[in-house]
Amino acid sequence: MNILAIESSCDETAAAIISGNPSLLEEPKLLSNVVVSQIDIFKAYGGVIPEVAARSHLEAILPVIHQAFSDAGFQGNTSDDWSKIDAIAVTHAPGLLGSLLIGTLTARVLAILHNKPLYAVHHLKSHIYANWINDDKIYNEMPQFPLLALVVSGGHTQIIRMEKHNSYKIIGTTLDDAVGECYDKIAKILGLPYPGGPAIAKAAAGEITTADGSTITVQPGDPKRYPFPTPQIAGYDFSFSGLKTAVLRAVQKEVNVPISYPSHELASFLSDQQKADFAASFQNKANQILLKKLTQAYHDFPETKSVILAGGVSANQDLRDKATTEFNGGDPEVYFPAPRFAGDNAAMVAMAAFYEIGSSVKLTDPYSFNIMPRSVIQ
Ligand code: KG4
Ligand code: ZN
Repeated sequence: MNILAIESSCDETAAAIISGNPSLLEEPKLLSNVVVSQIDIFKAYGGVIPEVAARSHLEAILPVIHQAFSDAGFQGNTSDDWSKIDAIAVTHAPGLLGSLLIGTLTARVLAILHNKPLYAVHHLKSHIYANWINDDKIYNEMPQFPLLALVVSGGHTQIIRMEKHNSYKIIGTTLDDAVGECYDKIAKILGLPYPGGPAIAKAAAGEITTADGSTITVQPGDPKRYPFPTPQIAGYDFSFSGLKTAVLRAVQKEVNVPISYPSHELASFLSDQQKADFAASFQNKANQILLKKLTQAYHDFPETKSVILAGGVSANQDLRDKATTEFNGGDPEVYFPAPRFAGDNAAMVAMAAFYEIGSSVKLTDPYSFNIMPRSVIQ
């Protein structure tokens, strides 16, 4: 069976095609994976503007799908060969309403037009299933159940326990900000570009990205230079708003201005080395907080066979290194998505749909379809 997947929840327009047999749950093959990012548009604004994102999706979505057909070799003369597609999957939630609308409307229309079964897929499930894309042959075997997934993205920070495919139990979540959002806000305070996560990681390694996109090299940041407190939150829940404020106060103190000083004007007082040190100290603490809760969860669920990292922040190398050290010895085995599948893409949507179909999840009616921008994984 060949599945066409579409993703448009934030600022990436993506389409992918995978091929496999869900009833045998055999490892599917990725035939194409196209991602068009709007990052260059939003760099100028320092963040995503939802209305602009939706319009960009509208322009890109059909060419992106067409490219996915072409890359998979699914074209008859010049047009897409729909006889090769057996199902359509699309991200339905959570995300920006206008962005989701473009992807879901496109998928609904294509499903009706070409008479294909439609599967609405939750974005966080897709991030988790990015760990099942073994195209780069990183792993000898796929993640094993029961597993713990640390989902860290721009909008979510959760620990999810899975006993089998398509079964999710959220055991921990952030009580305020998501860790990715925190990376993005701290980057702004430090005068680093959007998206903040990769810019912070680079700055921590001593590579400061300037406003014109060039790089200034300094000493690698000192992760112990600015000690930030660890939030004391019960269970497996997280809090990142305190860390965000702690970094802001530390920067204000360092440059000797009152706490009422506008945060967007602080960066001009910081040296590039101070930026690197703040980036490294923040990254270190944010990742320590994540790993502390994940380790605690593993301690309480010792039968866990795999620990998987998912979502945009799972691209962070320091987080990967810390997780590898923490679970050293391969019991449980730690999984990360290949870097190109950590951020938003449609291959992960196709993979989540593949395992949903394998678990006999019911079809989505293309005529009555609800978009739920803040829906919860269940
Ligand atoms: O999963 P994602 O691409 O989109 C959402 O579903 O939200 O995650 C985006 C988030 C952003 O906050 C971005 O700054 C962060 O992932 N991110 C990173 C890195 N790459 C992306 N955070 C830390 N280190 C990175 N290397
Ligand atoms: Zn995402």
